[in-house]
Amino acid sequence: MSNLNPVSAVAHPNIALIKYWGKRNVQLNLPAAGSLSLTLDGLHTTTSVHFDPALDHDKIAINDEILSGSKHQRLSEFLDLVRQRAGISHRATVITKNDFPPSAGLASSASGFAALALAASKAANLDLDPTELSILARRGSGSAARSIHGGWVEMFPGKDDPNGLDSYAVQLHDESHWDLNCLVAVCAQGPKKIGSTEAMMSTAETAPYYPAWIEDVPKTLVEAKLALASRDFSKLADVAEASCLRMHACAMAANPGILYWKGITVDLIHLVRQMRQEGTPVFFTIDAGPHIKAFCTAEAAPKVSETLAAVPGVQKILHATPGAGARII
Ligand code: PMV
Repeated sequence: MSNLNPVSAVAHPNIALIKYWGKRNVQLNLPAAGSLSLTLDGLHTTTSVHFDPALDHDKIAINDEILSGSKHQRLSEFLDLVRQRAGISHRATVITKNDFPPSAGLASSASGFAALALAASKAANLDLDPTELSILARRGSGSAARSIHGGWVEMFPGKDDPNGLDSYAVQLHDESHWDLNCLVAVCAQGPKKIGSTEAMMSTAETAPYYPAWIEDVPKTLVEAKLALASRDFSKLADVAEASCLRMHACAMAANPGILYWKGITVDLIHLVRQMRQEGTPVFFTIDAGPHIKAFCTAEAAPKVSETLAAVPGVQKILHATPGAGARII
C-alpha cells in the first residue's frame, strides 16, 4: 500500500435556477429530473481527509462539532464508498469548516459533499475525473454533484444505467460567462424545516401535482439554457422564477403541505418583482427555507442589496459572485 497522506479540498455552495425536487431512487440518490445552477464564490467549505491505519473508527468534525449518531453515519457511509473503490479499509479523520452561517439557506451539504468527495478520493489515492467526482458527490447529496464544477452547471437525472452512472453534472459555461451576482437575504428563522429528502419523498407520494412538475422540468431546462447562452436576463428571470414557484407549489400540495416560506418571504417576492418592473435587472429564487436569493447584474447589486437589507426582518445580506469548482488546496 502506498502512502495515504492527508489531503484538503475546497468547494463552494451552488444555487439552482431550475430546481431539483424529487428522487427516482433514494438509495442511489438519483434525481427524478434535471436541474441548473450557479456555483457561488465568496462562500467556502474546506475539508481535509486522512485515512489513518491507527484509527479504529472515523473521526469527523464539522465546524468544531465532533459528529456522532445519524450525522456521523451519513458521512461514514459516504467514506465507505471511497474505501470500497480504493480497496482500503482504513478509517479516516475528516475536518470540515464552512465560512458561511449554517442557517443562511445555503446548502452546506452541496459544498460539503463536493469537498469531501474530492479530498477523500485523493486521500485514498484515487484519481477521479470530474464526472466520476460528480457521481460520487451525488451519493452524499443531489445538489453536491453540481458543486464539483464552477460557473453554470447542468445536472443530468440519468435514465438507463442501473448503478446511476449516467446521473451527474456538467459545466455549461465557466464562471466568466456572465457576471450575475447572487444576494442572499437571510430572513428570520422559524421552527426547524423538514429536511429535503423527507420533503421530496412526501411530495412525490402525496402531491397530486408531482407528475406535472417532473414532466415540466425538461422544457423549463431548455428555456433556461437558451436564456443563459444568450445572456437574456429577462427570459432567465421568467423561467427561474417559474421553476422556483412550481417547485414550492408542488411541495405545498403535499399532504401535509410543506411550506418553507414566512411572511417576509412573500414580501420579498413582491419587492423583487416590483424592482424588476421598475427596471432593475433582478429576480428571485427560494430553496428549502424562508430566505430569498436575489440574482441581479453586478451593476445592480449595490442597489438590490441596500433595498433588501432595509426590509424589517432581513437579518443580513450575503453577496456572492460566480465561483469555481471544487479543487485541492
Ligand atoms: O441536494 P439536496 O438534498 O440538498 O436538495 C436540494 C434541493 C433544493 O435546494 C431545494 C433545490 C436544488 O436544486 O438545489
